[in-house]
Amino acid sequence: MEQQIITFSERETIDAARSFAATLKRGDVVALSGELGTGKTRFVKGVCEAFHARNPVTSPSFVILNRYEGRDSRGDELLIYHLDLYRVKSLEEVYDIGFEEFFYGDAICLIEWAELLSDLLPVERYDVHLSYGVAEHERRIEIARVAGGALQPDGERRAGLS
Ligand SMILES: Nc1ncnc2c1ncn2[C@@H]1O[C@H](COP(=O)(O)OP(=O)(O)OP(=O)(O)O)[C@@H](O)[C@H]1O
Ligand SMILES: [Mg+2]
Repeated sequence: MEQQIITFSERETIDAARSFAATLKRGDVVALSGELGTGKTRFVKGVCEAFHARNPVTSPSFVILNRYEGRDSRGDELLIYHLDLYRVKSLEEVYDIGFEEFFYGDAICLIEWAELLSDLLPVERYDVHLSYGVAEHERRIEIARVAGGALQPDGERRAGLS
């Protein structure tokens, strides 16, 4: 599955993320990449909205991990972990917070600046790459399902993520 969406406002990006969230299941990992300010945090906000998560979603200034309590379509409790690795100085910090629990548990886990983790990322995940468009508020969102380290269906990896 590979999908490309162009948005022209913050709200459109949030709504695109809400639609995408309909495909997410417990245990899914979403690796977000893209330059500063392209909308990674807004995308997380949209996923949280889709699961009726109560806490407001902000860019974590000093924490690298946020945890939101949401509900799935059946109304059952569902945890969303939001990691922002922008300020992480070494992989030790990621080990220290126990990333395996987030990646291999039954919560949904979204990671900003996920490319920093490279090989530590689960091989089965979604890659979401955001980039600036031509117009001021234009953004391009590329979503790919990754399985076994290769994108489907053409098997090519996108440059910048390893
Ligand atoms: N089409 C758009 N989609 C998303 N955000 C947009 C769009 N147009 C303008 N914006 C603005 O761009 C900014 C995106 O900020 P956001 O914090 O989501 O980016 P980010 O990728 O998480 O940045 P950082 O790398 O600092 O974490 C917001 O100020 C938002 O209002
Ligand atoms: Mg952010």
